[in-house]
Amino acid sequence: MRILFLGDVVGRSGRDAISALLPALKLELRADLVIINGENASHGFGLGPDMAEAMFAAGADAVTLGNHSWDRRELIPYIAQEKRVIRPLNFPPGTPGAGFIDIVLADGRRALVINAMGRLYMDALDDPFRATAELLSRYKLGASVQAIVADFHAEATSEKLAYGHSFDGTMSLVVGTHTHVPTSDHQILPGGTAYQSDAGMCGDYDSVIGMSKQGAAARFWTKMPGERMQPADGEATLCGVFVVTDDKTGLATGVEPIRRGGRLSQATPVL
Ligand SMILES: [Fe+2]
Ligand SMILES: [Fe+2]
Repeated sequence: MRILFLGDVVGRSGRDAISALLPALKLELRADLVIINGENASHGFGLGPDMAEAMFAAGADAVTLGNHSWDRRELIPYIAQEKRVIRPLNFPPGTPGAGFIDIVLADGRRALVINAMGRLYMDALDDPFRATAELLSRYKLGASVQAIVADFHAEATSEKLAYGHSFDGTMSLVVGTHTHVPTSDHQILPGGTAYQSDAGMCGDYDSVIGMSKQGAAARFWTKMPGERMQPADGEATLCGVFVVTDDKTGLATGVEPIRRGGRLSQATPVL
């Protein structure tokens, strides 16, 4: 299976880049499964239902979230009926929506997509490791599903690596989100799971993690709240990771970064 994962979409520039670039990119990469983290799409905070619809129209099969899941309250009723938008698995019991989706592709292959959230330097939540292990006990990679992908939304690289190694051999891809900066540690772990600590964002990199640099920097200088943070509005770089898996095992045979448009150095997978 050919899997494209794109990191946190930030604001209008990120949304516009998805709409403008993803349809052709999906064809170019012959991607079977496209997953986007959408937690910052709405002005940097949350995801509007219309924005999720635009991501699906551009080619996304699933949209993941994170700590900004409920910043747009309209998403609460929406996520209850739109199963393709998922929020972290380890939110408290009774939280609307689901932490995973079992997708059936047009050709009949199945993929499980999971969203989980770390706890180091994040809000207190249930244990993402045990929640993921419990979910995985109901699926068999390479048998009941051809691919399993986890978006692990976390601040600390240590927690992301611990999560990746914990599930090495039981998933196709573990990719981190939330820091909005792509890491260059993409690799296939010894057990066959593709891994990258952070996918990076789909947003303007002339910014402080996607937000206007003046406003964001002022907070560090003054320790005052200042005005509401605004997303940077320059051209976005689409950032993410592309993975090819063996359907018989569900494990990765290749992993490469993708960076397109905007300011960052460009990277095109050749898998
Ligand atoms: Fe984010
Ligand atoms: Fe986040």
